[in-house]
Amino acid sequence: MSTHLIAPSVLAADFGNLQRDIEMINESDADWFHIDVMDGMFVPNISFGMPVLESIQKHAKKLLDVHLMIEQPDRYIETFVKLGAKLITVHYEACPHLHRSIQLIKSFGIKAGVALNPHTPVHVLNEVIGDIDLALIMSVNPGFGGQSFIENTYDKVSTLRKMANTKNLDLLIEIDGGVSNKNAKALTDAGANVLVAGSYIFGNKNPKQAIIDIKNF
Ligand code: DX5
Ligand code: ZN
Repeated sequence: MSTHLIAPSVLAADFGNLQRDIEMINESDADWFHIDVMDGMFVPNISFGMPVLESIQKHAKKLLDVHLMIEQPDRYIETFVKLGAKLITVHYEACPHLHRSIQLIKSFGIKAGVALNPHTPVHVLNEVIGDIDLALIMSVNPGFGGQSFIENTYDKVSTLRKMANTKNLDLLIEIDGGVSNKNAKALTDAGANVLVAGSYIFGNKNPKQAIIDIKNF
């Protein structure tokens, strides 16, 4: 059986019933909470920020995986750590001093991740792959839930997994965007070991079962 992790994206939750949806994830087979922070600058959408994080932290009983789709993320790393983030992922495209951003995240004793947009080749991670815990491969253009999965992702995952294996690294490879029961197995076969899913889970009549369907195969 595959040993990958499932990280439901809170972006697709019902914000009028946030506590209910967080408790659903607590009780489910999911492993992490995936939290999408967007600034309306790096991506063409604004999602939510600190006050919402504070509410999530109050109820969530699993690791908070914070995906920062924001410009100059270094400005807010410490704040997100205080809000309970145990993994912070910044975008390669938003960090001119990526190595410094990674070190800053790790200085707080939490896991560091780097995300790549669909057009960014995985080779750009070559010089930092040994410094990070996780690489997030965007399988849609960041900014919105509910978009269609980009097929080229499989090649990126297998290339990145080979890069990690060559260096004997136990890298987490997370896929974000358009993940469902139609592509989950192929993604883990290609070398992914964390799957984010938003609309597939929250758009399902039985979200806990939807989680099981992309977790157990
Ligand atoms: C997109 C976000 C994703 C999004 C995934 O910019 O990073 O985490 O919530 O949503 P679905 O699974 O609906 O594509
Ligand atoms: Zn995300």
